Amino acid sequence: MKFSIVAFLAFAGASAAAPNASVYAGNTKKNMIMMVSDGFGFASETLARAWVQQSGKYPPNWMSVIDTIMVGSSRTRSADNFITDSAPGAQCFSTGTKTYNNAIGIDTKYKPLGTNMEAAHRAGYKTGLVVKSHIADATPSVFAAHAANRAMQDLISEQMAGLVPEIGQNVDLMFGGGRCTFIGNSTKGSCRKDNKDLYPIMSKNGWTNIVNNTEFKALKATSKLPISGLFTLSNMPYSIDYPYNDVPSLQEMTTKALDILTEATKNSTQGFYIMIEGSRIDHAGHSNDAGAHIREIIEYWETIKIVSDYIDAHPETAMVSTSDHECGGLTLGRDNKYYLYPLVYTNQTKSQELACDELLAANITARGDLVTNVIVPKYLGKKNASPKVNAAILAANSTSECYLAMSAALSVDANIYWTSLGHTGVDVAVYAKGNNVTGVKGNMENTDIGNWITNYLGVDLAPVTESIKNTNVFQYPFTRPNTTFVFTYPGTE
Ligand SMILES: *[C@@H]1O[C@H](CO)[C@@H](O)[C@H](O)[C@H]1NC(C)=O
Ligand SMILES: *[C@@H]1O[C@H](CO)[C@@H](O)[C@H](O)[C@H]1NC(C)=O
Ligand SMILES: *[C@@H]1O[C@H](CO)[C@@H](O)[C@H](O)[C@H]1NC(C)=O
Ligand SMILES: *[C@@H]1O[C@H](CO)[C@@H](O)[C@H](O)[C@H]1NC(C)=O
Ligand SMILES: *[C@@H]1O[C@H](CO)[C@@H](O)[C@H](O)[C@H]1NC(C)=O
Ligand SMILES: *[C@@H]1O[C@H](CO)[C@@H](O)[C@H](O)[C@H]1NC(C)=O
Ligand SMILES: *[C@@H]1O[C@H](CO)[C@@H](O)[C@H](O)[C@H]1NC(C)=O
Ligand SMILES: *[C@@H]1O[C@H](CO)[C@@H](O)[C@H](O)[C@H]1NC(C)=O
Ligand SMILES: *[C@@H]1O[C@H](CO)[C@@H](O)[C@H](O)[C@H]1NC(C)=O
Ligand SMILES: [Zn+2]
Repeated sequence: MKFSIVAFLAFAGASAAAPNASVYAGNTKKNMIMMVSDGFGFASETLARAWVQQSGKYPPNWMSVIDTIMVGSSRTRSADNFITDSAPGAQCFSTGTKTYNNAIGIDTKYKPLGTNMEAAHRAGYKTGLVVKSHIADATPSVFAAHAANRAMQDLISEQMAGLVPEIGQNVDLMFGGGRCTFIGNSTKGSCRKDNKDLYPIMSKNGWTNIVNNTEFKALKATSKLPISGLFTLSNMPYSIDYPYNDVPSLQEMTTKALDILTEATKNSTQGFYIMIEGSRIDHAGHSNDAGAHIREIIEYWETIKIVSDYIDAHPETAMVSTSDHECGGLTLGRDNKYYLYPLVYTNQTKSQELACDELLAANITARGDLVTNVIVPKYLGKKNASPKVNAAILAANSTSECYLAMSAALSVDANIYWTSLGHTGVDVAVYAKGNNVTGVKGNMENTDIGNWITNYLGVDLAPVTESIKNTNVFQYPFTRPNTTFVFTYPGTE
């Protein structure tokens, strides 16, 4: 584990220090740090906070680092659905425009929309994306790619790598997972449809491409941009699974990215713009895995703490943190019972994702022993489970059945409930700190946040939209499906 209960003590009473005005005076340089906690709703914050409070026996008024900088809430719907996915959700942060579910950096008529990251790059800012998902996943790609559907992973990867001339190269640094769409299909581990290898072309264009933690640790603040660090073929591991993987954590990637971007903009009148995503808070919601969810949230808090300290030392920096949507429909309290016992998750040592992979890969004969002696007592950390609990897990014959059975094994005792393996339409919290963020407050539309960033950076998206209008957004033919419930949203339909 890369975090400890002791470390949380430092968060207690941490306050949002005002920027040091005397440092800022006369300095026009600006940095922007957009933080996205994917799939993180109010109940998730309450659950993680309660787990830490009960673990550390902290008082009822104890605050997490993000509790201290909460400024408002955001509505999350997309142009065509009350329940959004990450693509149109995050696109509101990069373009200020709602679009249809699954769209990447385009409007509802498939027209590519210039993003504030592309505009910032053209204006001389250095740019970065640091995520725990694959780098071509929805949230990072809406900042630098344009595609009719988020599943067009090969096309999106080429755009992110700066290999599509109409768009150009807009990202200077990318850390995360997702190497599989950057390597041709004749290489083991590839998930591309074709045999195109992006790495040699990127190298030729000046990229430094690294793939493992040894190389990551060797990176220096003075390492030259552009840099890609894709440490896994697909998503990065959950923080609960770090002991089984040698990869940098979100905190480590963030610290390194800030060091490099700060150094790279040292002599510049422009600063940097980075998007940092706690991507897998969402994934743990999708598998109703509260133990992994809590640890992803704490990793995100610790990342916010790093950014918050950075702002104290660099007051020309603004940070906004929010979520694209809630995930899992998590609720605290169930079955008409009045208590919350999150300590049930303390002894969980592996994500349900890895545990289910292991279970479903085992032959039927081996499964009984695996469930009773390993998965339930060791991975889920549940001692003296009833035969009924073990039997429910053993009966699972698909990943989602397995998730639901493992989730139920602990959530009944914790007295929490998940209503879905998907997203929900509730509002999410907004947090902000630093340079000039006083305008980020109240109950906002997700588009307000993107528009605020664009204004803060002092960039104009229209010329970018014009310059990229001929970009191909189709990796293959695609028409967006008609949705059953379309409430017209002015300016989008
Ligand atoms: C603000 O920055 C100035 C100049 O670096 C320094 O002298 C001063 O102590 C700082 N004030 C605070 C409150 O950090
Ligand atoms: C690999 O890519 C080539 C084209 O580059 C294609 O012809 C071939 O069918 C692909 N193979 C697989 C297994 O997808
Ligand atoms: C890390 O990657 C480099 C370059 O591909 C390789 O030479 C090295 O052996 C790798 N190290 C580890 C520990 O995998
Ligand atoms: C900044 O300027 C100094 C002094 O001219 C130079 O040594 C350094 O390489 C420059 N750094 C960058 C990132 O351009
Ligand atoms: C976790 O496991 C330890 C060791 O078996 C046990 O003492 C403790 O009560 C367990 N914690 C919870 C919350 O179940
Ligand atoms: C099932 O898996 C166990 C454990 O890996 C192995 O010992 C056993 O031989 C396997 N049985 C069959 C029928 O494949
Ligand atoms: C699991 O599903 C497979 C394929 O769908 C089927 O052949 C098998 O009988 C199922 N096993 C159980 C225990 O339901
Ligand atoms: C702060 O924001 C206001 C309103 O958006 C703007 O007028 C002002 O120029 C900004 N100041 C700085 C230092 O960015
Ligand atoms: C979608 O809806 C429009 C307008 O109602 C209709 O003209 C079109 O045929 C529909 N397309 C599909 C694929 O159902
Ligand atoms: Zn999701």
